[in-house]
Amino acid sequence: MDNENIKKIKIFDTTLRDGEQSPGASMNTSEKLNLARQLARLGVDVIEAGFPVVSDGDFEAVKAIAQEIKGVEIAGLARANEKDIYRAYSAVKYSEKPVIHIFIATSDLHLKYKLKMSREGLYEKAVGMVRYAKSFIESVEFSAEDASRTDPDFLCKVIGGVIEAGATTVNIPDTVGYATPFEFFNFIKNIRDKIKGIENVTLSVHCHNDLGLAVANSLSAILAGAAQVECTVNGIGERAGNAALEEIVMALDVRKDIYNATTNINTTEIYRSSQLLTHITGVSVQPNKAIVGKNTFAHEAGIHQDGVLKEKTTYEIMTPERVGRQSNELVLGKHSGKHAFKEKLESLGYLLNDKEIEEAFVKFKALSDRKKEIYDEDIDSLIVKSHPFEKYELKYVNAVCGDTVTPLSMVKVMVDGELKHNSSCGNGPVDATINAIEKIVNSGAKVIGYEVKSIRGTTEAQGDVSVTIEGGGGAVNIMGRSAHTDIVVASAKAYINALNKLYIHNGNIKKSNQMDVCSNKL
Ligand code: KIV
Ligand code: ZN
Repeated sequence: MDNENIKKIKIFDTTLRDGEQSPGASMNTSEKLNLARQLARLGVDVIEAGFPVVSDGDFEAVKAIAQEIKGVEIAGLARANEKDIYRAYSAVKYSEKPVIHIFIATSDLHLKYKLKMSREGLYEKAVGMVRYAKSFIESVEFSAEDASRTDPDFLCKVIGGVIEAGATTVNIPDTVGYATPFEFFNFIKNIRDKIKGIENVTLSVHCHNDLGLAVANSLSAILAGAAQVECTVNGIGERAGNAALEEIVMALDVRKDIYNATTNINTTEIYRSSQLLTHITGVSVQPNKAIVGKNTFAHEAGIHQDGVLKEKTTYEIMTPERVGRQSNELVLGKHSGKHAFKEKLESLGYLLNDKEIEEAFVKFKALSDRKKEIYDEDIDSLIVKSHPFEKYELKYVNAVCGDTVTPLSMVKVMVDGELKHNSSCGNGPVDATINAIEKIVNSGAKVIGYEVKSIRGTTEAQGDVSVTIEGGGGAVNIMGRSAHTDIVVASAKAYINALNKLYIHNGNIKKSNQMDVCSNKL
């Protein structure tokens, strides 16, 4: 490996934009801010915070992230039109390092069927819109959507044109995950070899995972000269997802001999980032997922266990600690005091003010009365709180179930400060509880998704429940989450959490109230 000429690869994180577009991964402003703080701690170079023109919520989230997160470039996505670009500018301009990211499709397929445009028309539009964005801001990224299926000569012409117009980053997306590694290497090399001025801008790639090749294609592109990769935590994203940040970063870290490249990522923050995203969205990673899966560092086979005990490197190419997974986790319990609790919060990256610590400590004590050992995942479940405002609050639930009785649930809910109660039957205790709550709140929301999982995979652990509801006449899907040692209680709380989010989503309280109480500020 040539240490002198080791290349620095920029990590452009799009978890909050492309990642958020994946089913079930939508986040509100406070959740996005929490994740953005963690991404900054992780050391990403660029946070693509959202697509500001899409909704007021997206705009507010990008603006809030631009205002708060320092030292990281904050990008806002825009289609190639003036309205989108101005909206993106209006949100990212608060950042120390704002970026407008413009995209338009360049493949004949998209030109003919989607854009109904000629190649010439597209060229003029792309160049004109980069110029327009440059009138506001220095850093402009241009993405040629569906680049990997675009005629290479035409693509080079467009990229050459936008560079002349002032684009500072040019991004080559494999939008539909169609490319293969060797082919993509040549594709990127051709761009590097042919385009005048390409050496003066950041050459970026953005790979999707439809054939499971997103990370391999991104790494091939790095070998061919790409200096930036666009990726998401846990690989979440449209359809089969985007290239997984943690996999690219660790491939570069472990195989420096091949890639001769490094990143600004603090690899010990990888696992926390993955966990935080899972806690916020409720979208878990598969147990065998590279780097962050539950089983990734577990050695089951006797021969492997024997080898690892004798010499770790026999079966481990990186240590769990390198990606922030602790083998000696400090477990808290009933007798742990506030000092230990505070230290644990800090070690997990939560920097709370005194009032927030006090609130979290009260919840911790309540949990430790029900549960002997409190693990890191339990602490996360106490801290990740989506909103300080609650229209509805669960006060009581008592569900009856068994193999010879009709499931019945009695529930009390505080609605705007007034205690209401009702009861209902159902197909099971959870169904009965949701029905009883619905009798009280009469929201009309429909449950379209329900998942329950043990936080640590054992029966003594807390049940982590996510409930997805369809509200507003089917126009919006919202997910609520909660954890409790009793899964009926967790289900009731998760449903109430979703109803509170729906209430806020429907514009019933001011945006400025949407900042979180339990912030993990840098
Ligand atoms: O996949 C894609 O082409 C995109 C662009 C907007 C960069 O997400
Ligand atoms: Zn994409």
